[in-house]
Amino acid sequence: ATAPPMVKYSIPFLGNTIEYGIDPVKFMIKCQKIYGDTYTFLMLGRKMTVCLGADGNNFMFNVKIKDASAEGAYETLTVPVFGSEVVYDVPNPIFMEQKKFVKDSLSTAAFKAYVPIISGEVKGYLSSLFANVKGEQEIEIETFEAMSELTIRTASHCLMGKEIRDGFNTGKVTKLYHDLDAGFAPINVFFRWLPLPSYFARDNANREMTNFFKSIIKKRRANNTETLDVLNGLMKAEYKDGSRPSDDAISHLMIALLLGGQHTSSTTSSWMLFELARRPEVIADLLKEQSMVLTGKPDTPAHLLPELTLESLKQLTLMDCVMKETLRLHAPIHTIMRLVENDVRHKDFVIPKGHFICAAPQVSHLNETRFPKAERFDPVRHVGSDEGSGEWTINGVDIAQKSAKSLFLPFGAGRHRCIGEQFAFIQNKTIIALFIREFSHRLSVDAKTGKEVFPVPDYTSLIAVPKAPRNLMVKRRSV
Ligand code: HEM
Repeated sequence: ATAPPMVKYSIPFLGNTIEYGIDPVKFMIKCQKIYGDTYTFLMLGRKMTVCLGADGNNFMFNVKIKDASAEGAYETLTVPVFGSEVVYDVPNPIFMEQKKFVKDSLSTAAFKAYVPIISGEVKGYLSSLFANVKGEQEIEIETFEAMSELTIRTASHCLMGKEIRDGFNTGKVTKLYHDLDAGFAPINVFFRWLPLPSYFARDNANREMTNFFKSIIKKRRANNTETLDVLNGLMKAEYKDGSRPSDDAISHLMIALLLGGQHTSSTTSSWMLFELARRPEVIADLLKEQSMVLTGKPDTPAHLLPELTLESLKQLTLMDCVMKETLRLHAPIHTIMRLVENDVRHKDFVIPKGHFICAAPQVSHLNETRFPKAERFDPVRHVGSDEGSGEWTINGVDIAQKSAKSLFLPFGAGRHRCIGEQFAFIQNKTIIALFIREFSHRLSVDAKTGKEVFPVPDYTSLIAVPKAPRNLMVKRRSV
């Protein structure tokens, strides 16, 4: 067996970096046509072996820990931002236990409590945006900024608790968050530390944020506070060997959740709004669905609809399909990587130690056989399908592993599968459901060309966020 074919390039070291950097999805699909489902390209001296197709996904997501690791691929980037003792700073079996702590905290009782919290945050924020807007006057909104704000308020309030959420009302915590987030730039993938202001700010923000969490933990212990957030769950967690995560570890896990769920989720709600902006008929169906589920009648006026609950949210199946279809066309994490630790076989190839292997959910999502007319936004194609929402287990039967052979993997699969999926659905479905009740929106129009602006993905950020300009024209619905 030989190594996979190498994609042509003309400049040593640089290799295919620029073409991949500009549009990784287009680049990987182009190479797939020339080299097949398995090939290697060069990115800043690193050999990246792309494994496409259902078999490629299955190989990559279920690769044995001894053969390839996520730690090797992500450590440089994540450990300084999250901190020590957690995620990719510990052996994978320990992180698996940490994931289970979080998963266990995200109980049905917790989700029930989160829905009204999220609703309150969404209403509060949207009314502040429109505080000075009269009647049905239309305003232009920076979509990604607005969705980022909503994501951080709702996620911090539900998962971390009121103390942290209130912290975001102060400039200080917001600044710490931004300094940590700036540690997720592409340069940080290649250099763990450089004497640059952004690196100093990142390290300082990790220290201060950790201290902030630790002070909250102390107060909660002193007052015996019981809450339904993840922080509470982590404070009670116990490893299999009877030891407990340290206060540093708890704080660092909270930072990891705050950052891990931020751009992924805010990107998703932003793309949902953009896709809906050019489909008023889908919005009308979504409102009808809310009306049917909440009042048993198809035409209850939006402003008279009752509050959402976990049960009613679950019945909003068209909304589910809209979110899935958005994730299919705009998977926030387009490439997923591992570092090969021992030569490993895939199909007829041996992938040598030192290569990175990559799965590309976004390429799978555009597979014409699995998704006919793949470029078209068509939520109905997900009706009746539970693909992409496989359960994640740790000791019992691992359904997530089976589903790795899928071509719809916005949340990954196998041992590294996302644990925030259910939360992300609850959060984003609530945000969009409440937004469309109160507002109608459309794409903005470019003053020069007179054409509607639908953003392209910005691949220079690690997550495929919509590239600016990304404004929407929004106005209150007439009552
Ligand atoms: C893992 C996507 C929201 C926490 C993952 C992975 C993907 C993903 C693709 C697998 C990464 C890999 O295999 O290397 C998404 C998307 C989201 C989302 C599309 C929103 C629409 C969230 C949220 C949280 C979260 C809200 C936190 C509450 C995590 C964690 C992992 C993970 C802890 C495990 C990483 C590992 O085991 O290596 N996510 N995620 N995610 N996600 Fe999410």
